[in-house]
Amino acid sequence: MAYLEWNDSLATGVEEIDEQHRMLFKLINDLDAAATGEAPDEDAVTDAMYTLSDYVAEHFGDEEALMAEHGYPGLAAHHDMHQRLTAQTLRFMTQFVNGEPVSLAELTEFLGNWLQGHIVEQDCRFAATLGD
Ligand SMILES: [Fe+2]
Repeated sequence: MAYLEWNDSLATGVEEIDEQHRMLFKLINDLDAAATGEAPDEDAVTDAMYTLSDYVAEHFGDEEALMAEHGYPGLAAHHDMHQRLTAQTLRFMTQFVNGEPVSLAELTEFLGNWLQGHIVEQDCRFAATLGD
């Protein structure tokens, strides 16, 4: 996967969220690096995967709490998107942990694409309502 690079078009303007999004980029890049290095170490890959999924859960929780705090009407739909992503990621991780032949490059590619699209289309939509 190409190295995920942060750029200003991804900024929601909400500092807490933007900082967490930047951290998610870093953790996806870390996982990608662990998985695609010269001699990928399964423990390092597993650690990177759990670190990423824990952080994703924390981030989604924080984001949804902020939406609830502001009475965001799109919260339920947004929560569903977070849930679907979480379920897909967990399914993948379970396959990996069970030793099934899964492609980590595909996972990081999928997560990177999902996150960028989600930030631009969904998180920015929420952030735009905060100025009202
Ligand atoms: Fe989100």
